[in-house]
Amino acid sequence: MAADAVAAAMAASSLCDDLEPATVRTCIRDVLAAGAARAGERVVVGGWVRTGREQGKGTFAFLELSDGSCVSTLQVIVDAAVHPLARLTATGTSVLVEGEIKEPPEGTKQNVELKVSRVLEVGEVDAAAYPLPKGKVKLTLEKLRDVVHLRPRTNTIGAVARIRHQLAYATHRFFEENRFLYVHTPIITTSDCEGAGEMFQVTTLFSQAEKTEKELKENPAPSESEIEAAKVIVKEKGDAVAQLKAAKASKQDISAAVDVLNRAKEHVSKLEERSKLKPGIPCRDDGSIAFENDFFKRQAFLTVSGQLQVETYACALSSVYTFGPTFRAENSHTSRHLAEFWMVEPEIAFANLQDDMNCAEKYVQYLCKWLLDHCREDMEFMVKNYDKSAIERLELVSSTPFVRISYTKAVELLKNVTGKKFDNKVEWGIDLASEHERYLTEDIFKKPVIVYNYPKGIKAFYMRLNDDDKTVAAMDVLVPKVGELVGGSQREERLDVLKQRILDAGLPLEPYEWYLDLRRFGSVKHSGFGLGFERMILFATGMENIRDVIPFPRYPGRADL
Ligand code: 4AD
Ligand code: MG
Repeated sequence: MAADAVAAAMAASSLCDDLEPATVRTCIRDVLAAGAARAGERVVVGGWVRTGREQGKGTFAFLELSDGSCVSTLQVIVDAAVHPLARLTATGTSVLVEGEIKEPPEGTKQNVELKVSRVLEVGEVDAAAYPLPKGKVKLTLEKLRDVVHLRPRTNTIGAVARIRHQLAYATHRFFEENRFLYVHTPIITTSDCEGAGEMFQVTTLFSQAEKTEKELKENPAPSESEIEAAKVIVKEKGDAVAQLKAAKASKQDISAAVDVLNRAKEHVSKLEERSKLKPGIPCRDDGSIAFENDFFKRQAFLTVSGQLQVETYACALSSVYTFGPTFRAENSHTSRHLAEFWMVEPEIAFANLQDDMNCAEKYVQYLCKWLLDHCREDMEFMVKNYDKSAIERLELVSSTPFVRISYTKAVELLKNVTGKKFDNKVEWGIDLASEHERYLTEDIFKKPVIVYNYPKGIKAFYMRLNDDDKTVAAMDVLVPKVGELVGGSQREERLDVLKQRILDAGLPLEPYEWYLDLRRFGSVKHSGFGLGFERMILFATGMENIRDVIPFPRYPGRADL
């Protein structure tokens, strides 16, 4: 059913006479896709004016209208008799209009246009104050980051948003088709998955301290003598009760005196409670921060990866995945790193490293194929404006098996490179730098490369130790334009080995006891990986900077909105 038919059905099924009638709006994408086939039909269309110009000595205006449903705009014609034209033509103006779809005159480049009969709503714009320029003039992507709230109105950010949406949708389709279950892992966590200590802390200690400080300023803590004086009153009131009892006073008089005594006691405990209020962050005797006073009564963080938690579901429901935001407090200023990014993390029980690689390869290929089949117009926009080879790359990747080489082999290849000098020296044991990764995939193989069996010293504690005792069953998928797109591994399923790996990484065992339980009770061979969702968008679109492929980029020094 077309989107406007669905909207019409929804509107008809829920009529409320006491409310304004529902708006049955047709997507510009649907109007343009149908072309002349819908000529003569009356529709309501809404959008923001990209460019508007008065014509015929001010008797009518052309508006190029975008509603974000596709790259193309719809040409809308409004007569001066229908609405004051000057109020419609400024770039950024929003309009909701009713009109008739028409075939344009021969020789024009539009396939259809809309002749407006009624302007239903207008959101005007003061052209002098509007930050986005008119027509073909463009702000740089960098400048657009300063107007992150308005940049979705540009062609580029609109196309990226649609591609991002399609990749998210395709992700769920892929895993659904392969019988994976979607698991929502927590965003607030008390475990450091990568053991790298690059976590943002979640705490209310600072806001609590601020609140206490403010309160103490307005109403200072009681002094010792105030508390003593209040205690004296309690004593007096207690004596009074005793005297009344001794004098066999009436029940009424005694209970009135007991009420007074209780109020005096309450006052003392309130004063004592308040006297404990101290400005600043609560500390233990040894000077360390008393996290037992924090919201969760322990230290908590924003997750760097949902892997450890999703493993608990894999070790019960077999094939699962999580897809959510992850956070890293690393001070990276590169075009490939964000402090908040989204990760897709499948986790598969009864799967080894080869199964893991197969899944990653199939998934990345599925995403590429999906964009080719469902995002043509946006991909063509990318080719025209950002990266000539973006579509070719998707075609190549979706149809070519990925190269698979061991880390040891990759290092050998890189050591033997002659025509190029790397900034970082290559030797066995190093963490491959982005320049090495990109050289492997862009220059040596010219296609995606999966590097596997990395030195244990540079990888996380949960990766399965290989028999050589030197390497772990890790794998990274490297792709042109981006370098590392996927990081994954077979997980260590042997309890003793895992314990030792945690200790060797300098981590305490206690917080990982629940993770070790998965190895104590019905341990199972299992594997998984994480795909950096923004890196996938960079790879697909050919955009240069990761800050432009996430709606609200967060990086050191920047967290707008
Ligand atoms: O290689 P990473 O650190 O792997 C993990 O977090 C594992 N726990 C995943 C798993 O096995 N379930 O991160 C996975 C991917 C990287 O390959 C990269 O694409 C992306 O996440 N990534 C980032 N993307 C943007 N900004 C950052 N700061 C990123 N750090 C990693
Ligand atoms: Mg990695």
